[in-house]
Amino acid sequence: MTITHISEAQSTSSDSPIIEQPRMSVIGTGYLGATHAICMATLGYDVVGVDVDENKVAALQSGRVPFFEPGLPELLRTALDSGRLRFTTDFADAAASADVHFICVGTPQAKDSPAADMQYVDAAVSRLAAHLDRPALIVGKSTVPIGTADRLTTLVQEIAPAGTAVQLAWNPEFLREGYAIQDTLRPDRLVFGVSSDWAREQLSRCYTALLAAEVPLVVTDLATAELVKVAANSFLATKISYINAMAEVCEATGADVSLLARALSYDSRIGGRFLKPGLGFGGGCLPKDIRAFAYRAEELGVGQAVAFLREVDSINVRRRHRTVDIVRDLVSGNLAGARIACLGAAFKPNSDDIRDAPALDVARMLQQEGASVTVFDPEAMDNARRAYPQLSYADNLVEAVLDADVVVLLTEWDEFTDANPEILGRLVSSRRIVDGRHALNADAYRSAGWEYRALGRPEHPATAVFLADEPLPVALSA
Ligand SMILES: NC(=O)c1ccc[n+]([C@@H]2O[C@H](COP(=O)([O-])OP(=O)(O)OC[C@H]3O[C@@H](n4cnc5c(N)ncnc54)[C@H](O)[C@@H]3O)[C@@H](O)[C@H]2O)c1
Repeated sequence: MTITHISEAQSTSSDSPIIEQPRMSVIGTGYLGATHAICMATLGYDVVGVDVDENKVAALQSGRVPFFEPGLPELLRTALDSGRLRFTTDFADAAASADVHFICVGTPQAKDSPAADMQYVDAAVSRLAAHLDRPALIVGKSTVPIGTADRLTTLVQEIAPAGTAVQLAWNPEFLREGYAIQDTLRPDRLVFGVSSDWAREQLSRCYTALLAAEVPLVVTDLATAELVKVAANSFLATKISYINAMAEVCEATGADVSLLARALSYDSRIGGRFLKPGLGFGGGCLPKDIRAFAYRAEELGVGQAVAFLREVDSINVRRRHRTVDIVRDLVSGNLAGARIACLGAAFKPNSDDIRDAPALDVARMLQQEGASVTVFDPEAMDNARRAYPQLSYADNLVEAVLDADVVVLLTEWDEFTDANPEILGRLVSSRRIVDGRHALNADAYRSAGWEYRALGRPEHPATAVFLADEPLPVALSA
């Protein structure tokens, strides 16, 4: 299914031939770029991955994925063995050996404002363009402020020896860490932001197998493609903060947000996905993307249209403080000297990504109030230790909870949600647990003598506890 929306005015012609099996470069080989490079090679293309980080390039070239992503190490080794994938730090090499160049570098939040820091995108595109002496397509995949592709088109065509024979397209990426391979090889949809038929055709040749498998394709102008990504992330963030706002109301009224979410989820117009109450969102995308979007909208004179995103952000951040409040309550209002086991560091399970991780934010706040905090995460320990050396870390779950006054579930890894409350109870000093992710069976914990607390749920539930812990009808999950 293809929905094309290029007006006559936007469509420009190019004499450059369409290359049926384009060779590709993928510039920036982090979570997004490494996955994209490996998956494109898996689809049969010749791919060179480019990064300024020599250690990352060396790791990938030697068959090691420098982050946690299920299935990716195996796929990397197969791709390297096929001879279709290699990695380099040399932009001249990338320019010479590829026809289509995917830009996958980071766009973090700027240090001094909510805007996106565009220095990495600008540097990557400029360094590449300087070597482009024949027709080429540069395809942005990074999440960027609206208007970036237009700006970069001018920049690239000024720098590149091939001038206007180099074109730009935007192909936003929607992959979820933890499901990155599946989301790359079987995405819900592809979005091509293009300014010419040539760019659309050439980009189609990069996804021949996916299009043949009838992955829906939406072809747009450049600005719409940029907007699709931030609009999608804003929607998801809003849905999460919506149910967390309801949790705040529940906390003031004795209502139970988990029952509320369940009742809402049966409404097919609402649905249960992303309606899960708890500690809220984090990671390298949603928080910085909604902030950058609100900032960019203001620059464009439409700040009011997305002013609600600031509230979405505030609700999200308040959940972290509220989690600390509940832990404090459980130790009689004073955290000083309390032994707190923090289960989880990654911003979500099945990832080692700790960027803007709610778990580590909570751990730090607890420590700042004098608690003795021990953190354990199945995969994110190295990243957490590097970023927050002031925290204490355990080597495993048992060590983390040993003699704890309160256990706090902050990232819902299976290892934590599968733990037996009775066995866990024998290890701690007091059976008190805060379920920051609404991921535990409250009834099982209470039956095993635990004081169970969760955001937006009453301390002593008056109603259908058993119903609340039944499997959900529609996945109330991200
Ligand atoms: N991580 C995700 O799940 C995800 C999903 C969709 C979109 N995105 C977007 O993709 C982009 C990349 O995100 P990420 O999570 O992969 O970031 P990341 O930090 O993991 O990777 C970025 C990579 O770019 C490299 N880099 C920086 N400057 C460079 C340059 N000038 N030339 C070459 N390489 C350079 C870095 O060394 C790093 O390896 C961001 O815009 C992000 O918002 C990420």
